Amino acid sequence: MSFGRMHRKEDARFIRGRGTYVDDVKLPGMLHGAILRSPYAHARIVSIDTSAAEAHPKVKAVVTGATLAGLNLAWMPTLSNDVQAVLATDKVRFQGQEVAFVVAEDRYAARDALELIEVEYEPLDAVIDARTALDAGAPVIRDDLEGKADNHIFDWQAGDRARTDELFERAEVTVAQDMLYPRVHPAPLETCGALADFDKVTGKLTVWCPTQAPHAHRTLYAMVAGLPEHKIRVISPDIGGGFGNKVGIYPGYVCAIVGSIVTGRPVKWMEDRSENLMSTSFARDYHMHGEIAADRDGRIKAIRVKVLADHGAFNGTAQPTKFPAGFFHVFTGSYDLEAAHCEVTGVYTNKAPGGVAYACSFRITEAVYLVERLMDVLAAELGVDPAELRMRNLLKPDQFPYTSPTGWEYDSGDYPKTLRLALDMAGYDELRAEQAAKRARGELMGIGISFFTEAVGAGPRKHMDILGLGMADGAELRVHPTGKAVLRVSCQSQGQGHETTFAQIVGNELGIPADDVEVVHGDTDQTPFGLGTYGSRSTPVSGAATAVVARKVRDRAKLVAAAMLEASPDDLEWQDGKWSVVGDPSTAKSLAEIALAAHSNLELPEGVEGHLDAVTVYNPPNLTYPFGAYICVVDVDPGTGQVKVRRFVAVDDCGVRINPMIVEGQVHGGLADGVGMALMQVMAFDEDGNHLGASFMDYLLPTSMECPSWELGETVSPSPFHPIGAKGVGESATVGSPAAVVNAVVDALAPYGIRHADMPLTPANVWRTIDGRPFRT
Ligand code: CDP
Repeated sequence: MSFGRMHRKEDARFIRGRGTYVDDVKLPGMLHGAILRSPYAHARIVSIDTSAAEAHPKVKAVVTGATLAGLNLAWMPTLSNDVQAVLATDKVRFQGQEVAFVVAEDRYAARDALELIEVEYEPLDAVIDARTALDAGAPVIRDDLEGKADNHIFDWQAGDRARTDELFERAEVTVAQDMLYPRVHPAPLETCGALADFDKVTGKLTVWCPTQAPHAHRTLYAMVAGLPEHKIRVISPDIGGGFGNKVGIYPGYVCAIVGSIVTGRPVKWMEDRSENLMSTSFARDYHMHGEIAADRDGRIKAIRVKVLADHGAFNGTAQPTKFPAGFFHVFTGSYDLEAAHCEVTGVYTNKAPGGVAYACSFRITEAVYLVERLMDVLAAELGVDPAELRMRNLLKPDQFPYTSPTGWEYDSGDYPKTLRLALDMAGYDELRAEQAAKRARGELMGIGISFFTEAVGAGPRKHMDILGLGMADGAELRVHPTGKAVLRVSCQSQGQGHETTFAQIVGNELGIPADDVEVVHGDTDQTPFGLGTYGSRSTPVSGAATAVVARKVRDRAKLVAAAMLEASPDDLEWQDGKWSVVGDPSTAKSLAEIALAAHSNLELPEGVEGHLDAVTVYNPPNLTYPFGAYICVVDVDPGTGQVKVRRFVAVDDCGVRINPMIVEGQVHGGLADGVGMALMQVMAFDEDGNHLGASFMDYLLPTSMECPSWELGETVSPSPFHPIGAKGVGESATVGSPAAVVNAVVDALAPYGIRHADMPLTPANVWRTIDGRPFRT
């Protein structure tokens, strides 16, 4: 009836191929758009000649930056208060940048006509390596910004520098490590796209788009294009994966809208795979330098970090306004230390814009990777077992709620218990014995641990907003006379199973089966305002809104039940999903009975208008802090550098689990993602800025071949900041797992004297790392 394993309601349509994705939507008279993209990473546009394309018999319109400039739409704001070219006017700044948009009768004609557009470019030197972006004499990428004479975007810092430096000066042991979290891509199987339909008669614009944040998109379209917000409807139908890739507004969306306004017909634009990989956002690209100060017995005192963040050609990173590096300052991880300090510098390069929170809460993946790699470097320096080192430093249960040295309030947890469970499940001591025996035979086996803390549920008003919009979520709950319910929420599922788990939350609160609750989402005309789904915020924010709105319904049902029973509401109790007179179960009234009575001619008590429906807006008081202990076991082939992930134990604590089966599915997906990032993924460029990973032949996705059978465990630390004690979990595994895999590989390579190797640990990279080094046990 409520929480527990339950098959996903949405699977009935998904496994029958009956989902409706944007590309499935076809409107009468619909036209198709295609984008001409820059072949250069950096070049001045000398001229654009569209006459031959316009003469193509099936072409209805060709839009360029000049057309958009006439409408004041050539540039659009990014999520980080920068501007981004919708279609280039002056220069192109990354390979794949949008230059022109063709609208034609069919998709093929639109693509053909792109070939007819003549663009004369004057190539310029490109900045590809972020470490050279601030060099004197480096080409200035953003000369469109008034007075801009360099590639610097921001400097940001958090923590107590003086105290941290002091602890470093006095420390018995310090370690330092440079590491790169490479540029990766969320690569959802469904690419981005939009179908725009502007109705000249009603003035209404409808946009179908696989957006993770339909309401935020509507507001931004209204603000940027000057269209009245009530005349805009954004419909986000079924989505084939988002992972952060579908948060922002991309030039193609704006072009589809302009195309529809210009032609008076619906215009659809769908990216192909290469366009998705080349242009619509990336993640990470953090060059990090981390240091730990500790006692000789392995008690950590302080952590100090410097980051160079490569944000590409436009600062389109998706972060709360106050935090240009997202929640990176959670880099103190799960440990009890005295002080910490970080500095982050953001720079422009000639690469695609972005910096999205790819399956993580705003840069926490980078932070977790950093601290968990540093812990292993420290363990190697001290000659202490990495599990033991973590045990000595983990926060203790009585320290919660815990305020970290950079100001975060962790909610709840028993970290040592979670790590102990993971060690027991893995059979840690036996694994170490096996490793020792193998090492003696010259075999490479590695065991890697990662203990992560996430911070999800953005976000509390006191700390954050996105582009000035507060991060509350709405929920509306209608109860029909027969006791069936419709829940309307502002978050947007991309495959996480909200139609099931949110129905379970309502069912749990109201004592009705989850199958009796229909969940409506993804249509701004049908749902209350809210900021959408990313950073595992749905359950912490919209899930909380759902519990609160269901409780409002339950409270109103109590008044009606009291009237039905001719009793005082004070004499009723909620038992087994029904209202009854205290101590008299024979009086129990189910929600269906109460709903029918509320709609009948029963004389209603004061405060009840006639039905049970309710509305709420939920402002989260704090983030929730899921955490977990991961242990990865790898075997490395010394001859080829091939890494085989043999085992992976993942113990997650996401507070109360609504649907353990869905939680496990989320963890499985995230672990596979982590293996992909650790072992095979990087968005690489040559020195001219040519993209070297624009297909799935080059940018590799992990499959079941690369993944072991995951071994999952759980502990449950309810969040005191959430009405049902749940914490988010969607992204925990992506956040926690790369460090476990890399730690395992580095551990396997320890006999070569290796303490660090950068991702991705492809066979070639591993082989290069050990080549020529002596093997010493
Ligand atoms: O925001 P997003 O949906 O990506 O992440 P989430 O809120 O962590 O939820 C992912 C899925 O797991 C949803 O269907 C949640 O309702 C479910 N979940 C759960 O069943 N129990 C939890 N404690 C957390 C999430």
